[in-house]
Amino acid sequence: MAYGSFRQFLEALDGAGELTRVSVPVETDLVISEWANREMKSPDGGKALLFEKPTIDGKQSQFPVAINTMGSRRRIAMALKLNSVEDLAQEIQLILKAKPPTDLREGWSLLKQGLNLLHARPKHVRDGACQEAVHLFEQIPSSKSQAPNSGAEFSLKDLPILKCWPKDGGRFITLPNVHTRDPETGARNVGMYRMQVYDDLTTGMHWQVHKVGARHGKRYYERGERMPVAVCLGGDPAYTFAATAPLPDGLDEILFAGFIRKKSVELVPCKTIELEVPADVDFVLEGYVQPGEMRPEGPFGDHTGFYTALEDYPVFHLTAITHRRDAIYPTTIVGIPPMEDFYMGDATVRIFLPVFKMNFPELVDMTLPPEGVFHNLVFVSIRKQYPYQAFKVMHGLWGMGQMMFSKYIVVVDEDCDVHNTSEVLFRLCANTDPERDSTIIRNPSDSLDHAPSSQNIGSHMGFDATRKLPGENYHRSWPELLKMTDEAQAIVNSLRKE
Ligand SMILES: Cc1cc2nc3c(=O)[nH]c(=O)nc-3n(C[C@H](O)[C@H](O)[C@H](O)COP(=O)(O)O)c2cc1C
Repeated sequence: MAYGSFRQFLEALDGAGELTRVSVPVETDLVISEWANREMKSPDGGKALLFEKPTIDGKQSQFPVAINTMGSRRRIAMALKLNSVEDLAQEIQLILKAKPPTDLREGWSLLKQGLNLLHARPKHVRDGACQEAVHLFEQIPSSKSQAPNSGAEFSLKDLPILKCWPKDGGRFITLPNVHTRDPETGARNVGMYRMQVYDDLTTGMHWQVHKVGARHGKRYYERGERMPVAVCLGGDPAYTFAATAPLPDGLDEILFAGFIRKKSVELVPCKTIELEVPADVDFVLEGYVQPGEMRPEGPFGDHTGFYTALEDYPVFHLTAITHRRDAIYPTTIVGIPPMEDFYMGDATVRIFLPVFKMNFPELVDMTLPPEGVFHNLVFVSIRKQYPYQAFKVMHGLWGMGQMMFSKYIVVVDEDCDVHNTSEVLFRLCANTDPERDSTIIRNPSDSLDHAPSSQNIGSHMGFDATRKLPGENYHRSWPELLKMTDEAQAIVNSLRKE
């Protein structure tokens, strides 16, 4: 059965020896971050951490802080209630195979139908544990007044929100599930976009230009309408995972979460805005984004391992905070890899591999190694049949959703293990003539990438590290890779007792 709460998930981690409880007071300003960073850098992602007495400027918070809860292959599988994420990949493959789709668009719509059929559709309920405590606010319209929103009895100042890195512009909510709706179609989206705390009732809303939240925002701005936004923290970890998954615009993350957890998500109406949220989450921040209102956001110690500079982003005004009485505040930090987010991205690639394979039948395996912090590096292995097939795969990937950001793509033959970076680098160095086997294209770039001369656009490079076929401008005979005979291997295995 699905987790009924974030707390239940933490109890499961505890029972499996995957959770370390920290019972001494630990400060939310940098100290939890330093502790978590060491844990995330330990072998296989270390343990999840539960800080039972986090302090905010020396004062103990009423809510514990959980971090690194999905930061290993085992924990991300546990978060999704799976033995291995490959089990979910297999289910997706079965849905796609029921009636083989002819192209990617058809594949996604088939997947959507499949999710509906599997009773993943949400249910609507009147009450939820996320509203056990309700705090409603009067907002000072901050665009007109310089006075910060403060003085509310309960506000963001009561949440144990981390300052992650020394030069961060403030405290940041780092695991928010941001719910919005397209004002024209009514389609829901849930994305994860960090939020910088400006004052007790105001934050930044860091949806980057390519993301669905930003597209919804644009629709509201064009209509001149205030945009309702609900931000959920905690609950079943399947929600958080779904918010980070690069689902195509229009595929509902709540439906996807229902499919993952094999149970409909129960949705409860918000108190002050026209949106619904999962009833079992720990916290809900209700509020709105006002068209045209922008404010500098950052700096922030980012996924890239560098600080992202100040940049203008929309402003989120809170109209209410609701929460469970026993709420636990979930968070993460990002930085020099490997960090917790690597395991989230890694699970996404493994789960959606069948969808990639459907579009590229030659694709054998694919990974985004931690050194590439998601989009900087992609290793793909293919069963190559015809000349320039590796280039076809690269161009296909560059045209596919958030894969458009892939800065370097290395394509290898099917007998190379893409999860072994050393093996891929060996093939890259051995099998390529740089001029013949590389291509540089222009494409949108990840907003966080500081290397391109201009933000959001840049060059991307692909390497064909496969063996060359006739027609690929190679005029010699391709050599054979060294391999010992099976017989010699068996003899040595028995002599060495392996
Ligand atoms: C820990 C974490 C933090 C993230 N922060 C942001 C962010 O601040 N802004 C952003 O645009 N994407 C961020 N992302 C990536 C998005 O969540 C991801 O691209 C997601 O697919 C976006 O959803 P959407 O396609 O529905 O917009 C973050 C991902 C993770 C795992």
